[in-house]
Amino acid sequence: APPRPCDFVVIGGTGDLAVRKLLPALLHCDDDDRLSPDSRVVGLSLAGLDTAAYRAKVRGELADVDVPDSTLDRFLERVSYASLDFQDPAGWEVVRPMLGGDDGDDSRVRVFYLAIAPALFGPVCRRLREAGLVTADSRVVLEKPIGSDLASSQDINDAVGEVFDEQQIFRIDHYLGKESVQNLLVTRFGNTFLEPLWNSTWIDHVQITVAETLGVGARAGYYDSAGALRDMVQNHLLQLLCLVAMEPPTYVDRETVRDEKLKVLQALRPLDEGDLGGSVVIGQYAAGLVDGQAVPSYLTEVDDPSSRTETFVAMKAHVDNWRWAGVPFYLRTGKRMDRGCSEIVITFKPVPHRMFPGNGDPEPNRLVIQLQPEEGMKLHITTKEPGPGGMRLRRASLDLSYAESYGGRLPLAYERLLTDVVRGSTTLFMRRDEVEAAWTWLEPLLTAWQSPGRTRPKSYPAGTPGPIAATTLIERDGRAWHESA
Ligand code: BG6
Repeated sequence: APPRPCDFVVIGGTGDLAVRKLLPALLHCDDDDRLSPDSRVVGLSLAGLDTAAYRAKVRGELADVDVPDSTLDRFLERVSYASLDFQDPAGWEVVRPMLGGDDGDDSRVRVFYLAIAPALFGPVCRRLREAGLVTADSRVVLEKPIGSDLASSQDINDAVGEVFDEQQIFRIDHYLGKESVQNLLVTRFGNTFLEPLWNSTWIDHVQITVAETLGVGARAGYYDSAGALRDMVQNHLLQLLCLVAMEPPTYVDRETVRDEKLKVLQALRPLDEGDLGGSVVIGQYAAGLVDGQAVPSYLTEVDDPSSRTETFVAMKAHVDNWRWAGVPFYLRTGKRMDRGCSEIVITFKPVPHRMFPGNGDPEPNRLVIQLQPEEGMKLHITTKEPGPGGMRLRRASLDLSYAESYGGRLPLAYERLLTDVVRGSTTLFMRRDEVEAAWTWLEPLLTAWQSPGRTRPKSYPAGTPGPIAATTLIERDGRAWHESA
């Protein structure tokens, strides 16, 4: 079906998210003819610009996006801007005419993208309703983290739920828009060979790593009140864990998939204060060298020598159900690490019988699902090294590179997700109960970590793989973090 005409209202239109992720994704959608010819983009913020100045800013920000100049020109024609105070009801009056006024065509899809602080989600939704901007075909997109704990997330969900139905609410986790993440479902459930092995009988452990070389940069204000537990673990890492651990749904639709993910979240073994000394390591980067460049410490970046905000977390989690009993899930995420790399690694158990004595033991099979920097998948298998010298064993890798196998440009995660928003498909978005189950699990740890008198996060020099304690965490179990070749 051709794309429906849509108005994208980007609330927070001059912010980092809008400029770095949303507008480039919309531009690519335009280039691929996935925006109907009369779709519009309305940027709203407090920056005091007008449409001409906003277009000029957007043109500059999108200069590096690889599309023909004619597409950029066409895209900018769709763009308009208004400066307003989101809390002030009067401010919203200017928006209605931008969306076609009172005689506006209600058959158009209207997307309100809340690229603003979560504390504003509820108030802004109320303003939208009061200003009469919410149509039957409206949708609202909420960026993570939704709240800062269970209670605040419930408050936000209640407030947004007063204005929009659950089917109109798109809680975005852009990891679910990544090709390799969606492919995880297809790999698991579109093939026969994996699923019989996908359980505690054959899998030794799972690792999920999201490592970045970036620091907090311009986002210090937001980040210092969030930290890695709220910014990454509560959403991206847990969503990946859910896709690895979930049971096969009978078919793929928004409720079945999310029902299965919810069951995983509910099966996570509760954490408590005691975990902080053992199965959870919390770190913060000090000054160091990243890619040969000297970079400052986190404390310098946020300009607060007393900040205890974590920029690194490593933890061992358990999914207490029949399939995963006894299989640890090691999660790790950090900023300013030695390399930018996101991957899910499934390590299988060793072969039950050694058949090649004197030639080394076969290494356990590993399935490595790479999300970043390149999307792909590797299966490590044991092979015979060629040659007449006997049965010498060597590890080899079956390699799938998306770029090589499929060619062309891989769509950005936000492109897929924004397209789904217009289509009204919520499958790849978080349902309210999932978000709240994730907070329920994380909250005891957050509370313990924030309680007065706690020690400081463990320091690691920027450009390294994190605090030593994170290595110890996994080595204590006789295992090691996977270092991709
Ligand atoms: C965002 C976090 O959700 O994800 C950022 O707020 C993080 O702190 C980013 O840098 C990572 O996304 P990606 O797609 O670059 O791995």
